[in-house]
Amino acid sequence: MDTGEKFCPRQDLDLDTTLQFLPAPNAKKLEKKPGHRRLWMGVGFVLAAVALSLLTGLLVWRFHLRSDVAVTRVYVGSMEIVKQRFLPAYEDSSSIQFSKLSSLVSQQLQAIYSKNAVLLKYFTRSSVDAFSDGGGDSVMAYYQSEFDIPAPQQASVDAAIKSLQTPAQSQQSRQGRVLVKPDDSLNINSVVTRAIDPRMTSSSLLVKKSFNVHVQEGGIIQSPGFPDSSYPSSVYLQWRMRADPAHRVRLDFDTLILEDNCQNDFVKIYDSLAPIEHAAITEHCGFPHHSLSFVSSGNVMLLTLVTNKEKNFPGFRANYSQVSRGPPGCGGTLSSDVGFFSSPFFPSSYPPRTTCVWNIQVSNDKLVKLEFRKFYVGNDSSDCSRDYVEVNGQRLCGAKAGSTVVASRSNVMTVKFNSDSSYVDRGFVADFEAFVPSDPCPGRFRCNNELCVDLSLRCDGMDDCKDASDEDDCTCEASHMRCENGRCKAKFWACDGVDDCGDNSDESNCGACTSSEFRCRNGPCVPSAMVCDRKEDCTDGSDESKCEKSAAMTVCSDLSFRCRDGGCVNKVNPECDDEEDCKDASDEESCQCGLRPYRSSRIVGGQVSQEGEWPWQVSLHAGGKGHVCGASLLSHRWLLTAAHCVQDKGPTRYSQADQWEAFLGQHTQSSANKWTVRRKVRRIVVHRHFDPVTFDNDVALMELDSDVPLNQHIWPICLPSPTHHFPSGRQAWITGWGATREGGVAASVLQKAEVRIINSSVCNSLMKNEVTDGMLCAGVLKGGVDACQGDSGGPLSVTSQSGRVFLAGVVSWGDGCARRNKPGVYTRVTKYRNWIKEHSGV
Ligand code: ARG
Repeated sequence: MDTGEKFCPRQDLDLDTTLQFLPAPNAKKLEKKPGHRRLWMGVGFVLAAVALSLLTGLLVWRFHLRSDVAVTRVYVGSMEIVKQRFLPAYEDSSSIQFSKLSSLVSQQLQAIYSKNAVLLKYFTRSSVDAFSDGGGDSVMAYYQSEFDIPAPQQASVDAAIKSLQTPAQSQQSRQGRVLVKPDDSLNINSVVTRAIDPRMTSSSLLVKKSFNVHVQEGGIIQSPGFPDSSYPSSVYLQWRMRADPAHRVRLDFDTLILEDNCQNDFVKIYDSLAPIEHAAITEHCGFPHHSLSFVSSGNVMLLTLVTNKEKNFPGFRANYSQVSRGPPGCGGTLSSDVGFFSSPFFPSSYPPRTTCVWNIQVSNDKLVKLEFRKFYVGNDSSDCSRDYVEVNGQRLCGAKAGSTVVASRSNVMTVKFNSDSSYVDRGFVADFEAFVPSDPCPGRFRCNNELCVDLSLRCDGMDDCKDASDEDDCTCEASHMRCENGRCKAKFWACDGVDDCGDNSDESNCGACTSSEFRCRNGPCVPSAMVCDRKEDCTDGSDESKCEKSAAMTVCSDLSFRCRDGGCVNKVNPECDDEEDCKDASDEESCQCGLRPYRSSRIVGGQVSQEGEWPWQVSLHAGGKGHVCGASLLSHRWLLTAAHCVQDKGPTRYSQADQWEAFLGQHTQSSANKWTVRRKVRRIVVHRHFDPVTFDNDVALMELDSDVPLNQHIWPICLPSPTHHFPSGRQAWITGWGATREGGVAASVLQKAEVRIINSSVCNSLMKNEVTDGMLCAGVLKGGVDACQGDSGGPLSVTSQSGRVFLAGVVSWGDGCARRNKPGVYTRVTKYRNWIKEHSGV
């Protein structure tokens, strides 16, 4: 169907033509008699309007109201044919055997549809796409059926198709009863048909193609053009994967980067060879940040890629293999006093259509405690009717943050896992432990939810139990306040706008402000005029934290963004936000940064990052010692790192450029990948006032010996202007190969962790007043997440409203790593923006 795109210009054209029909016998005369001219213009206008509305009416009628216009609707399905041996020729759609069997299937379908008056009326044709080995003496057929249906009848056809097989019938069919047998040609056991995903039949798809993959040997599937060019536009590609009978297909993605909008580009995976909705196991677009790994329930899997007309980069690459379906299966009897188990194939997603039962039995006089360390089991719904875990008859589903604990009332516990036919998830890991009812947490604190936590965590202001029971009935220490409910919380959380106590008592009695005043989140009142004036008047910065869209003012202040022509912009963070704010557009110059390109679209407590996720991350190797520090890529030629990384230490002359080598596009330290680019360092510029005692001005520039090519694995981060505002509480990411715990060893794979920007006065009170104006704090005060040895010099990245990533800080120092109430301290990049420009030109 044509789209509006074509109609709009045509309407304009008609309008023009109509206007030319206006009688204009004598232009001069018209000029002299303005009254006539007005009359003629009026007539012309009326004519034009009539023509336009006729045309519009016609179009509306043609495309929306004419109910007799039939629309082709495609249904896809699968049919199990029993007493039929699978032949290799069935995989070749040009073979005689294929056409013979497919015409029998089509006849069978025709016979099924003709039993239903509605279906019979609109059915046009069926075709078989593929067959697979159903194991034993059966063959699975995958087909499409087309119906030409007038729009108003669509729903009744959908209903008729659905009624072909009710769940009750399919239950029977699984038990082997032959369902429909209109003639003797085929013995069929089950038929499932559903409307196809409409994105797969869009008329804008120019190329439809299928590939047959035998997964037995293992291998790689990638989007065409991967990794060097964009993936094809306007295509619908299918990879049909077949494993040997009694095996499963396993698919592990190592890269998946598509356009962000799943309406445009997506991959969808099915537990079938037909794209049938009730066997859809997952769908992805954009840049998923967790690992993607899937296992089928049977011996087939279908991977589809659908794209729109825009070109995007780079696509996906996945490894396929087959796994035996024989024992050991999941579930079983667990008869020790401690242990753990997980969902099938964890950390891969669990397969669909799977049920496992574990029977835990501990010593007679003890009870069982089960703790889920990870829990991602489908969508959270009240009845958990799809995918779920059932413990002692109680169902759990959805994603659960932190630990969930369940205890038994006897020495046995039954845990059942169930997944339905579609949409899988990452699964769970559960630890179990026997405990004596009289002393369930020997040497530790017993939470109300039966979790045991370290005694030192009791009454420290943090909810360690996840039900806050470790914070009940506390005597508060001096630096803590007492909530009305008896909990203790660090004093500086009072009046910060967040209910830390759980009963809001830390947020009451914070002093009322007058109508012309604004109350800061941490209590004090400031004049309303100070809100969004680009100056932090509240000590927690809350008067400036919600001003992203504030209107530009014309006056210049210390906090205005300075355009190159000297003009001022008073909008918060106007640089590279895709809106021209300066008259000379200088705020949108040099913005080839901070985006993972081509898309139109030492860390403690972190997680493994994906390849290409942090293309500005650089690994600095020195003196033949391997990785020493991190750095951020600013341009083709310049890196920013920490000054303390380039200080001579003992015999190693870290201050000399020739000691260093920069690794860009690196992911794993142990092995260079194909995107890794190495560069020698030509020059190091250390801040003149770096203080090795206080770590003030901990910043240095490195010039590479030659330009690096930019691609999706190597891309600069945006530098914030001197007045760029990173409000307290803003989410930020730290990345690096440093130690994964205090005193620990360096990571092999690039780690990432999420932290928050912490207000400077709060930070100073936590860090013994050692935080200068040139430093910025970020972390998780509860502890457990931080940068650590080896992360120094690396980026603290903040994503702006416009989706670009800015370099807020450079990893500098900390008190240990990831300790409670000890945030990480970073070099405040805004403070050194001009210094960077002066010394590197960037
Ligand atoms: N100075 C350390 C290094 O050289 C980084 C320390 C960061 N520490 C922290 N707790 N945030 O790698």
